Amino acid sequence: MASTDGMRIGILTGGGDAPGLNAAIRGVGRRALPAGATVLGVRNGWRGMIGEGSFFELDRRFFSGILQLGGTLLGSSRVNPMKLDHGREEVLANIRRAELDALVAIGGDDTLSVAAWLAEQGAPVVGVPKTMDNDLSVTEYCIGFDSAVTIVTEALDRLHTTAASHHRVMVVEVMGRDTGWVAVMGGLAGGADQILIPEYPVTIGEVVEHVNERGKQGSDFSIIVVAEGFEMEGLTAKDEAEGTRDAFGHVQLNRRGVGYRLAEMLEELTGNETRTTVLGHTQRGGSPSAFDRIWATQVGAKAWDLIEAQRFGQMGIVQCGEVTTASIRDVVAEQRRVPEELYRLAQVFY
Ligand code: F6P
Repeated sequence: MASTDGMRIGILTGGGDAPGLNAAIRGVGRRALPAGATVLGVRNGWRGMIGEGSFFELDRRFFSGILQLGGTLLGSSRVNPMKLDHGREEVLANIRRAELDALVAIGGDDTLSVAAWLAEQGAPVVGVPKTMDNDLSVTEYCIGFDSAVTIVTEALDRLHTTAASHHRVMVVEVMGRDTGWVAVMGGLAGGADQILIPEYPVTIGEVVEHVNERGKQGSDFSIIVVAEGFEMEGLTAKDEAEGTRDAFGHVQLNRRGVGYRLAEMLEELTGNETRTTVLGHTQRGGSPSAFDRIWATQVGAKAWDLIEAQRFGQMGIVQCGEVTTASIRDVVAEQRRVPEELYRLAQVFY
């Protein structure tokens, strides 16, 4: 193991923020400082590695009292150097200019894809898994997902009482991009009556039939969770939402208005009074759950272990309830989709 005394490490957080990021930053820093390293925060994700670079030193005080804070104290952005002219070269130049012996990239597939590429060029980069969408390969834990599910669960509990009082159909649109993890887990925990996710097609006829069937069985309200990436005839297709892309190049799915359109269709076809709640960015806001604090701390600390061992191109992940490691490239290799068994389980409670 190389000596870490006098080492300079950078930490960046990229992509959408998520509760637990500060816990991970703290996990890295609180291991690195006692080992004699100088820790630099990179401002606003990869944006802080472009041009002249934007860094600030993180001392012992910076890491105090941040475990429970939402968002990221380093700032974030969806700037992707791979998509900018000379972006890759500028990042590599900034690693040299800031004399970084290691860079910790905390993020989802876009942020980590850049990290994987850098490591393949020989740059000393390690990763930490973060995405409320929970769609990274190999790892069973991504920072922010548990907090998001907790927020969806609480929202569904609240919506149940008002739905029942007014005998309404409540459509609840949740985030998750192209996978239905937040919808399925939040829906299971909150007792949703139907869960519509991108992985498994359902027709409007089937949704209507289900609402009507519940009515016949004496339930005169329904809670329908729909993932923002769900597609169905009658809803704005993802490619029709063209023109509303973020800096990573993703369509901004909340602009499709899936929840509102689905509610309109249901009201017309069932005759039930229908309302829509779009949980939006509340799912990413506020304090992390205890689960996120604990695991974010562990995968953050693991990043430091990897740096100490000079195992660049690797990242801390969780498998079978334990923190272990995987190559960043494997973690971004494909999108982890909701398995059919879990989706079918949720349907048992419809
Ligand atoms: O990837 C995380 C995520 O929250 C997605 O679930 C959502 O589609 C997207 O980010 C929203 O991004 P923005 O913060 O740019 O609106």
